[in-house]
Amino acid sequence: MNPESFLRQRLVCVAVIDQPEDAAPLAEALGAGGLNCIEVTFRTAGAAEAIARIRKNVPQITVGAGTLLTADQVKQAVDAGAQFGVSPGLSESVSRAAQQNNFPLFPGVITPSEVMRALELGWKHLKFFPAETFGGINALKALAGPFGHTGVKFVPTGGITAATLPNYLALPQVAAVGGSWMAERKLVAEKAWDKITALTAEAMKVIAAVKA
Ligand code: 3PG
Repeated sequence: MNPESFLRQRLVCVAVIDQPEDAAPLAEALGAGGLNCIEVTFRTAGAAEAIARIRKNVPQITVGAGTLLTADQVKQAVDAGAQFGVSPGLSESVSRAAQQNNFPLFPGVITPSEVMRALELGWKHLKFFPAETFGGINALKALAGPFGHTGVKFVPTGGITAATLPNYLALPQVAAVGGSWMAERKLVAEKAWDKITALTAEAMKVIAAVKA
């Protein structure tokens, strides 16, 4: 799957799902708010099952696997039906496993050396994490200097909210933004689907204003 297609909306909801049975209702709640892309993090034992449930029950949503720290987790994500993967850092074994499975991956980077290594490994869409802690907008603007002509695109994640979203999306080197603010772990555990839909719709409104 080409990342350009599922990043078209320019937002990825990063979710921590404790109960796999919450996965499909969560995906539906995001969809009701207008968003069709979710990253289910491998931070809970039920992550693979959550991904499989979304693929089966909410096929209109593109589902990725996040927090991929090992090659084995890449395999589990692919087997569960994940359509893309995200890693907080740049690991050669994770990168190799993704390439062996023809699995789009957003490795995590912060520094110019990490961007160079990711490009050498063949990746063009890079997670910039943790974005707000490591310079946010100003860091991304600076990275566009030496890397703008390479075609590299960033997916900043970490500490971003609906309020800061427009500043990130205004940067041409930003393909999309990742964040958990519209579906925080607590809201998912509380099954606060209406609230999640409202927060998602608010984010989509912000994005529509940026695009207009
Ligand atoms: C991630 O792994 O991408 C982050 O935990 C998401 O960051 P946020 O919770 O600050 O949005």
